[in-house]
Amino acid sequence: MRIGLLTGGGDCPGLNAVIRAVTRVAEREHGIEVYGFLDGWAGVLEKRYMTLDVQGLRGILPRGGTILGTSRSNPSLYEGGLEMAVDNLDTLGCDGLIVIGGDGTLACATRVGELGASVIGVPKTIDNDVAGTEQTFGFNTAVQIATDLIDRLHTTAESHDRVMVVEVMGRHVGHVATHAGIAGGAAFTLIPEHPFDIDDVCRRLQRRHELGRYASIVVVAEGARPLPGTLDVPGGAVDQWGHKILGGMGALVGSAITERTGFESRVTVLGHVQRGGTPTAFDRVLCTRFGVAAIDAVVAGDWGTMVALQSDSIVRIPLSQVVGIEKAVSAELFQGVAARFFA
Ligand code: F6P
Repeated sequence: MRIGLLTGGGDCPGLNAVIRAVTRVAEREHGIEVYGFLDGWAGVLEKRYMTLDVQGLRGILPRGGTILGTSRSNPSLYEGGLEMAVDNLDTLGCDGLIVIGGDGTLACATRVGELGASVIGVPKTIDNDVAGTEQTFGFNTAVQIATDLIDRLHTTAESHDRVMVVEVMGRHVGHVATHAGIAGGAAFTLIPEHPFDIDDVCRRLQRRHELGRYASIVVVAEGARPLPGTLDVPGGAVDQWGHKILGGMGALVGSAITERTGFESRVTVLGHVQRGGTPTAFDRVLCTRFGVAAIDAVVAGDWGTMVALQSDSIVRIPLSQVVGIEKAVSAELFQGVAARFFA
């Protein structure tokens, strides 16, 4: 048997750990050959791949990024692209394809599956917004990185009596912001799920500072939005895949706070630092479990499913129940916990 494997969408810590686990169990336990497609779906469309084996993958477990490369290339954006992906897998003799990606990549896998390819999904993204799994891999690492950096900002904020605005990733949802905000003791966390009122934020920061606190951390998810009509947000550019290029919300919030309160503010955009470098031990374990479960699904022939973490077990759920659904931060966590520590 031969299978293909690809990593698609934005990279995140742990991709290599999944590649290693898949290859190791495939080769050692089942004698399955693994083709690693290069640069996500682009590798399938252009038949670019490398053969993966245990020997060649030594040392990749803790390495960030993906040895296969990744891209946001999406066969459904090209006329006949999905059919070409299915044909190419067939021509290359791949009996199945393990697709490691976020919602966009997995949506594509679902469509390729509907056209006859045998696919298994593995949920990846620091954003943690894939439905059906309690966590995607990469998320834990991103939260840890953001928390470490917020800890560092506290001391400089206190030295200068400043409001430090920290912009973290989180395109449509605020999982990273909410977790890092709780872990880092933020005075406010602004997330896309709950449009914010900048005047309310400023009033409450002023009250906090009147009560004797002179430094505050405000965590802003890059996709956070003000309540309509409360703050002008300039229109954004898009990348070559039509993906809106975010960034700038932290700066907007920082200058609005200074204008309205007179407090000195500084803005730190964590950006891609959150996606780089070595995965945490938690993510390495999760990736290894996902990789093993993906090969188990291949061997069981349970195509069209995604491996997922539920109640500390790895389960398989139909991809069709996952794609197109964005997992938002729960009210229990945001309002029930995070917001209770706001200024
Ligand atoms: O993969 C998710 C993500 O990290 C988002 O949080 C962020 O908005 C986006 O990717 C950034 O994409 P790019 O690396 O293409 O700038």
